[in-house]
Amino acid sequence: MEKVVKFLKDAETYYLATVDGDQPRVRPFGTVNVFEGKLYIQTGKVKDVSKQIHKNPKVEICAFKNGEWLRVAGELKEDERIEAKQAMLDAYPSLQGMYSADDGNTEVFYFTNATATFSSFTRAPETVNF
Ligand SMILES: Cc1cc2nc3c(=O)[nH]c(=O)nc-3n(C[C@H](O)[C@H](O)[C@H](O)COP(=O)(O)O)c2cc1C
Repeated sequence: MEKVVKFLKDAETYYLATVDGDQPRVRPFGTVNVFEGKLYIQTGKVKDVSKQIHKNPKVEICAFKNGEWLRVAGELKEDERIEAKQAMLDAYPSLQGMYSADDGNTEVFYFTNATATFSSFTRAPETVNF
């Protein structure tokens, strides 16, 4: 999983796809944090993306860097603990102007049943499950 986290952090931006009824939705995301050995992302409850994840936790993310792309497909589980949210905000001081761990909006999710696939035009795909 470290390789996945490093790739996402180095790429800086990844694209998070959710399911909205029969319509895929995708948007840029950047937050990634490892807490208690799990890969977390962060959003706000007020956002459509949050509502979509709560309805259907199956998501996929995609990032591209230096000719290589990474896709992570899996399910997101919400972690309502303050310490999980705080760990995320500590990793992203720039978010602390907009979010705080106890604001009723900040939420963090971790990946379960995740399959990460590294791909490029020049090598066979490499898959990591976590
Ligand atoms: C580079 C970049 C990174 C972003 N990272 C996040 C993020 O980690 N979490 C988040 O909630 N929004 C993030 N955003 C903002 C979302 O893309 C934006 O709020 C989007 O509209 C949310 O999707 P929705 O409209 O379907 O709810 C980021 C935007 C950009 C441009």
